[in-house]
Amino acid sequence: MRSSRTSLRVRLAALLAGAAAVGTLVTAGTTTAHAADTPLRDLAAAKGKAMGTAVTGSKLTGTYGDLAGAQFNWLTPGNAMKWGSVEPTRGTFDWAEADQIVAFAEAHGQEVRGHTLVWHSQNPGWLTNGTWTPAQLSTLLNDHIATEVGRYKGRLAAWDVVNEPFNEDGTYRQTLWYNGLGTGYIAQALTAARAADPDAKLYINDYNVEGVNAKSTALYNLVKSLKEQGVPIDGVGLQAHLILGQVPSTLQQNIQRFADLGVDVAITELDIRMTLPSDSAKLTQQAADYKAVMNACVAVARCTGVTVWGFTDSDSWIPSTFPGQGAATPYDENYAPKPAYRAIAEALGGTTTPPTGACTATYSVASQWNTGFTGQVRIACSGAALSSWKVTWTYGAGQQITQAWNATCTQSGAAVSCANASYNGTVPDGGSVTFGFNGSWSGTNPVPTVTLG
Ligand code: XIL
Repeated sequence: MRSSRTSLRVRLAALLAGAAAVGTLVTAGTTTAHAADTPLRDLAAAKGKAMGTAVTGSKLTGTYGDLAGAQFNWLTPGNAMKWGSVEPTRGTFDWAEADQIVAFAEAHGQEVRGHTLVWHSQNPGWLTNGTWTPAQLSTLLNDHIATEVGRYKGRLAAWDVVNEPFNEDGTYRQTLWYNGLGTGYIAQALTAARAADPDAKLYINDYNVEGVNAKSTALYNLVKSLKEQGVPIDGVGLQAHLILGQVPSTLQQNIQRFADLGVDVAITELDIRMTLPSDSAKLTQQAADYKAVMNACVAVARCTGVTVWGFTDSDSWIPSTFPGQGAATPYDENYAPKPAYRAIAEALGGTTTPPTGACTATYSVASQWNTGFTGQVRIACSGAALSSWKVTWTYGAGQQITQAWNATCTQSGAAVSCANASYNGTVPDGGSVTFGFNGSWSGTNPVPTVTLG
């Protein structure tokens, strides 16, 4: 975040003493060395949680790959494992991106959440356009699960077996599967997944089920009934595609009630969208929202972790799906961590360095003659900004300001104080302001140490 600072003390070492030569410049070293922030995955692990992200396989190089590998310990393929991706033509499979992501995860000590086996969306055309008897549908379902789960047997931590089975009012969504097989398709899919990989945790995943509401209560009742029937179900995924400022107040309570049923809970697709353009107030609100979600997961032992649906705004589904909305992830489009990133780290018990950047003041002697000189001070900002400024310094014996421009300067004894004029108090990030002065000197005319305050 670029923050505006009106008060910033920067001490500048005077590098030269003695009579200054014409054009002598003293530059200020103000960069503070920061220890690297602890990666989110390590902070999460220390809390017994996981921190995940959805990824796009083709992007897993360069900065994107570095951050995905370093910061997260769960990966979810954003699209690569969906039916339409893996079997675009019946019987012809394309595992390239899914395999790549699994290999990347294994190389980086990460777990993979498989997403997703049974859904109404992103299915291949041959499947959705076909006319199937219930028996055929049942076979298609079982074969698909056996094939895909079987391919990655022993390598995936979890599967979103069934995705988005409910309508907002808690009734079942009318899908290919529901219409053909009734509610039994859910138990059937879970049972098939368990048979194909007994070690993978099996989840039902949905959106708008983060708070206590009709939809999440329907999901709750389904999970309860599946447990009672002995159907394999290990967890519930709360997608959490949230709107700025609208984290449900009942999130933690809702997580807890699922946990109390004896299943794990994961936040599986977290993003928090805002109306574009973003500004610092929205980003601050977003940070608070991210923190609230993280806190709710941290507070419940059976909440296993939080996955963000894309970690950078350059790899988010929001702008194309919700026109005019975006900036929903913890990193901006240039991979700079946003306030949301720091909020996540803090919720996981980490401390983060403040945004780097500073404004510096540099004193130089532009010209000098037998008893007089012309000096100047340049104030420059990078990664920070000022809305007013004052520069102070202490002269040696015999140095006296006689006249200043582009600042109001006063000298009392050896102490000089120069404040901005009415028109140049603002120094934007990346900008600079210079003021000048004439003075007299005797003996020596050293460059003083200046302080920007
Ligand atoms: C989204 C992907 O991120 C997009 O790239 C794709 O075009 C559409 O699907 N709920 C889900 C995810 O379970 O699979 C969806 O992912 C987002 C909503």
